[in-house]
Amino acid sequence: MDVILRKKPLSDAEMDLADVRAGRDLSFFDLVSINQVTDKDLVLLFDVARRFRDYKTYKFSFNKGYSHINAFFEPSTRTSSSFDLAAKQLSMDTASVSGNSSLSKGESYLDTVQTIDAYNVKTIIIRSKESGVPEMAARHTNASIINAGDGWHEHPTQALLDGLTITDHVGSMNLKGIVVVIVGDILHSRVFGSLVRLLKKMGATIRVAAPHTLIPKEVERFGVTHHVSIEEALSGADVVYALRVQSERGANGFVPSLREYSKMFGISKARMALAKKDAMLMHPGPVIRDIDVHSVFAAADEQSYILRQVENGMAVRKSLLWLISDRIDGVRKTFTRK
Ligand code: NCD
Repeated sequence: MDVILRKKPLSDAEMDLADVRAGRDLSFFDLVSINQVTDKDLVLLFDVARRFRDYKTYKFSFNKGYSHINAFFEPSTRTSSSFDLAAKQLSMDTASVSGNSSLSKGESYLDTVQTIDAYNVKTIIIRSKESGVPEMAARHTNASIINAGDGWHEHPTQALLDGLTITDHVGSMNLKGIVVVIVGDILHSRVFGSLVRLLKKMGATIRVAAPHTLIPKEVERFGVTHHVSIEEALSGADVVYALRVQSERGANGFVPSLREYSKMFGISKARMALAKKDAMLMHPGPVIRDIDVHSVFAAADEQSYILRQVENGMAVRKSLLWLISDRIDGVRKTFTRK
């Protein structure tokens, strides 16, 4: 039996957020792919994220009484810390499990997530080396599952924070006529997997620049053009989005050497000058300085939006955790544990 918890009166900041939300709910309970996010969801997530961003680290009581688990089975700095802080700033209790969990003793992903779910947590954030783990988990938990990057497949909250960063710069949700150049290890990139789907939906023109060895076969089916000449790709670009060579997925064997790669595809001042004058330089992090991006750009340069992306990551994840956990319509995820 569920006990009904009485909510405290809202603070001014909470009333402000509730006004921005205006009674809206998301269309999904779990987020495993960016394909689930409708146009309405996107507007709601961004409206709420922008307002959360204004309040910085203010502690909201919206998710008080709910628990949150970060289950990161691969390294992470930005995604794990922002989810953890976002949950705490919504007054959730948080815990984390990692590669040091009983998974390393031979426990399956399924048993691991069902164990966590038995604590009646509200949200479980999963990052895994293999593709498909969050999707499988979502079918077996009462908790909402959010994909924080699964293998080579998808990283939907990264795409959301990137979408917010670009939208704010452009001043519109409609990206028709905006040229985004994605440079680097497209083949192994789950960031690409989500970003390309989102940006296409928002109407952007996308060019990818990489050697043939780092491009998936039939990449054009995503509605992008492939350029082996980075100079050609960068010409007139509004956004230059660099990706890291994913050495932990064996990508170093797909280029003659990282030095050679850097010479051919690294983003330098001279290359950036081929894009539009106020073009944005973006990167999901971690930046491998002087390989994918020249040192001068890594953070401080005025064309670099890398730290803005990080800040937006926090805001978008807070928005998602609130909207998923605290539904206005009271509807819950339907899975029922025996
Ligand atoms: C990315 C990831 O883990 O997919 N990092 C991130 O979440 N910001 C990108 C990467 O590791 O290259």
